[in-house]
Amino acid sequence: KAGQLNLLNDPFRFRPQSVNPTDSDGNPARVAEDIRAGRLGNLFNGVGAESGREIQRIAVEESRLKIPLLFAADIIHGLFTVFPVPLAEASSWDVDLAYRTARAAAVEGAASAIHQTYAPMVDVGRDQRWGRVVEGAGEDVLLNTLMAVARTRGFQGQRGLADPQALLATPKHIAAYGAAEAGLDYNTVDISEATLKGVYLPPFKAAFEAGALSTMSAFNDINGVPATGNEWLLTDLLRGEWGFEGFVVSDYTSEQELIAHGFAADGRDAARIALLAGVDMSMVSGLYLEHIPDLVASGDVPMAVVDRAVRRVLSVKAALGLFDDPYRGTSVERERREVGTAEHYALAREAGRRSVVMLKNDGGLLPLPKSGRRIALIGPFGPSLDVFGPWTIWGDESKRVSLEQGFREAMVDPSLLTVIEGSGVEAPVDGGIEAAVAAAQAADIVVLAIGESQGMSAEAQSRADIVVPPPQQALAEAVVATGKPVVVLLRNGRALELSGAVRDAEAILVTWFLGSEMGRSVADLVFGDHAPDGRLPVSFPQLSGQQPFYYSRKTTGRPASSRDEGYKAQFREAGHTPLYPFGHGLTYGEVHYGAPSVGGGGVLPWDGALEVSVQVTNTGRRAASEVVQLYIRDRVATM
Ligand code: BGC
Repeated sequence: KAGQLNLLNDPFRFRPQSVNPTDSDGNPARVAEDIRAGRLGNLFNGVGAESGREIQRIAVEESRLKIPLLFAADIIHGLFTVFPVPLAEASSWDVDLAYRTARAAAVEGAASAIHQTYAPMVDVGRDQRWGRVVEGAGEDVLLNTLMAVARTRGFQGQRGLADPQALLATPKHIAAYGAAEAGLDYNTVDISEATLKGVYLPPFKAAFEAGALSTMSAFNDINGVPATGNEWLLTDLLRGEWGFEGFVVSDYTSEQELIAHGFAADGRDAARIALLAGVDMSMVSGLYLEHIPDLVASGDVPMAVVDRAVRRVLSVKAALGLFDDPYRGTSVERERREVGTAEHYALAREAGRRSVVMLKNDGGLLPLPKSGRRIALIGPFGPSLDVFGPWTIWGDESKRVSLEQGFREAMVDPSLLTVIEGSGVEAPVDGGIEAAVAAAQAADIVVLAIGESQGMSAEAQSRADIVVPPPQQALAEAVVATGKPVVVLLRNGRALELSGAVRDAEAILVTWFLGSEMGRSVADLVFGDHAPDGRLPVSFPQLSGQQPFYYSRKTTGRPASSRDEGYKAQFREAGHTPLYPFGHGLTYGEVHYGAPSVGGGGVLPWDGALEVSVQVTNTGRRAASEVVQLYIRDRVATM
């Protein structure tokens, strides 16, 4: 039974670049022996049909009870074909797009003998210092909730979990991981019940209602009690109130970390606390396997609690159809057919386009002409293949499209393109600025590709100052000083503070990390084959020090509209507004809103509905698609 609750890294199928051969559990022979002996029921982060079948064969032919293994992986935004990072995709505000990319990722994962993905990440991200904002849908509860549902449905498909192309979804990390104090990863979460239930939990609840049958317990504590040892959260609320019937997996050694939290005395105590709280499966630490027999023998954990956890894990294995076909129809031929298809790459390009947000376009500088103009593409991200973003362990690196490549393919005469890095991401390069200025002077238009590397917005990558790194800012200042028109292409995994020459450039596109087809998606927009229509899922602040910053702040007793200039809720240096608000985004069309009309009349009952309509007109010469947004609040309420 303890073996069924034990989950280790897959030492058989890791790709060379991701394997750490010194991992304590990274010994294939020992792991195979554990499977045979029933000490291991689950593996994660290995892919591949052929080897997957072979490992599964050990379990179902050579172990005593022949219980199939569960294979999981972090398939966050694509497997071999890489789609935009979730924060980027949320900028599309398009749940159907999110469904389709999750579906494609699931098809690739299932073909590679994976059963469960550790996604979607549904943590609301209101503090842009937190490096994992990039994995979610941003600051808003509704957008996070809709995306959580779309991605869950996309991973699991519509034919039931037993369908061989379905992946079990794992909304994570329950709960309030994004509320870490100061945006510092893994930090303490001190939160009111109202904020927990009103902001951080709704995306989880919605994902479970959409059918997700597993979830991952967070690293952080909540009001002093670590999530992974939190019986109120994982049992009373999750199972009791919400009726969740799936299993909870700990995050990477999070049950062992109960010791560091000062919540458990030692490994045995940590296993006891986590198990009793409602964590069914232990990731990596091995503590469940080591201690469950003794915990039961001594009476510290009732056998019924172990049975409960095992039943949950086995039920999900059954729901996945593993007891009918432990191989779920995988084969080398199927894998070849279903992975990295032309259709998936076309979807990646489309999703990339839909994920870009145009912050400004003064004088209609964009789109650029495909011919007749000399373009200088300046900045570390012009030639860079750093297009995937975080959490792409298996992305096909041979199929990454840089901005440079995308531009060359789009331009009628690619010899009019000059590409100069001018700076590293976080360090200057010798003579870089001089070369960039010379290139700018010789060009008609400058495109500045600057921002964060994919390593800068990721797990354990909190930033105190969410700016464009200083060497790139210096590059931007020098290039803009040439007086040439400048388009900024921002690469980023969070909202950034934009200042000086970057903020003041004529045109700015937020391009995030768009995945495999990034260069082509951006070129499609820059050269006008398509129009940008993304909207910000996070507010861009004026200054880093405004964080946490989000539009749905509660009103204070001294709001911005207060009459007394000296006494209101604002910063001396930044006032109370963002530089670009949540929901902002321009297009090439000219979209106008008429006056809204509100249906009905009188008092709206508590459970009543109100229809608001508005005429939206595009008077420009280019097609446009518009996300119509309506913001409401209670003007007077008990809370
Ligand atoms: C992350 C999880 C991830 C897990 C397994 C942890 O460090 O917090 O999001 O699923 O590793 O790779």
